[in-house]
Amino acid sequence: MSEPVPHRRRPRYSGKYPRRFEEKYKERDPEKYPETHAKVLASGKTPAGSHVPIMVSEILEILSPAPGNIVADCTLGHGGHASALLERLSPSGRLLGLDVDPIELPRTTALLAARGFGPEIFTPHKSNYAGLPSVLTAEGIGGLDGILADLGVSSMQLDTPSRGFSTKHPGPLDMRMNPHRGSSAAQFLQKSSPKALAGVLLENADEPRAEMLAQALSGRLFQQTTDLASAIRTASSGLPAEEQEKTVRRVFQAIRIAVNGEFSALDAFLRNLPLCLKPGGRVAVLTFHSGEDRRVKKAFQSGFREGLYSAIADNVVRPSPAECRSNPRASSAKLRWAVRAFSLS
Ligand SMILES: C[S@@+](CC[C@H](N)C(=O)[O-])C[C@H]1O[C@@H](n2cnc3c(N)ncnc32)[C@H](O)[C@@H]1O
Repeated sequence: MSEPVPHRRRPRYSGKYPRRFEEKYKERDPEKYPETHAKVLASGKTPAGSHVPIMVSEILEILSPAPGNIVADCTLGHGGHASALLERLSPSGRLLGLDVDPIELPRTTALLAARGFGPEIFTPHKSNYAGLPSVLTAEGIGGLDGILADLGVSSMQLDTPSRGFSTKHPGPLDMRMNPHRGSSAAQFLQKSSPKALAGVLLENADEPRAEMLAQALSGRLFQQTTDLASAIRTASSGLPAEEQEKTVRRVFQAIRIAVNGEFSALDAFLRNLPLCLKPGGRVAVLTFHSGEDRRVKKAFQSGFREGLYSAIADNVVRPSPAECRSNPRASSAKLRWAVRAFSLS
């Protein structure tokens, strides 16, 4: 006879609503509590443990995926864009899903399988998108009909305190999308000199008080995300509270970009793109801050001048006001696209 399953009490929390990630067990289980999930979404928030995909209809219009096409979603995340692409690629197309995150990738693969997108149509790859050419070689694919990259971190990474990205909830100061590789944010800060850190804050987040903050933060060991956030607030205590919070967000962003080598991966990805696309293949890239958008814009413009692309976005595409209202995380999104030329000159 099997052992009886012990009864587990729900996490206790004070007040009417849970505040901490671990307490939001209903949000994190949309299959069991669909009404809670829907209520959080309707309030303009992202349910804990999920990610609301941004500019889905605009991306589908640009990539125009169709049955039989082969497409790569280079930033699989929670699979929101992937699900929309897979609907259009079914039944005879294929989607490759790349992500560096070894924790979320298997969860999303299982989620997509539960939605009916199994190995016959969807192939996950734990890979940096800088390595897209190697993924294509391993798969024996000469060129793709479509490529999507939705840059940065997912809401699951940002909101799960143990991943170390959260500015509000305490967690180990990690910030690695792949926690098995490289140095954590804590190690990075402890090793950095004031000069190097000032460069990172300026280059990665246009931080106006980069030198002062670098003097205050470099070489120190911060165990918890909230220890770093408090030190940033203390260093900028002369500023209004709202500006202090913006400073916290900029410093976290700059360190995250450095810890994950985000700009060097993006530069390699943009260089490889034309060779990964079939003639006439399309790419869409969604960015969330000026450092990313500048790189994408320049790469597409120079690719167009060199004849690698036959068309590129004249202007950046922005989310609708309605989307920004229903998902405030969409507000800073910028979408650019390019079409590979038929013959490379
Ligand atoms: C904004 S989220 C993507 C969300 C996704 N479009 C969705 O609908 O759920 C970005 C994802 O890209 C991944 N990522 C970031 N940099 C990467 C890189 N260089 N190579 C591969 N994946 C990366 C992150 O781990 C994260 O899961």
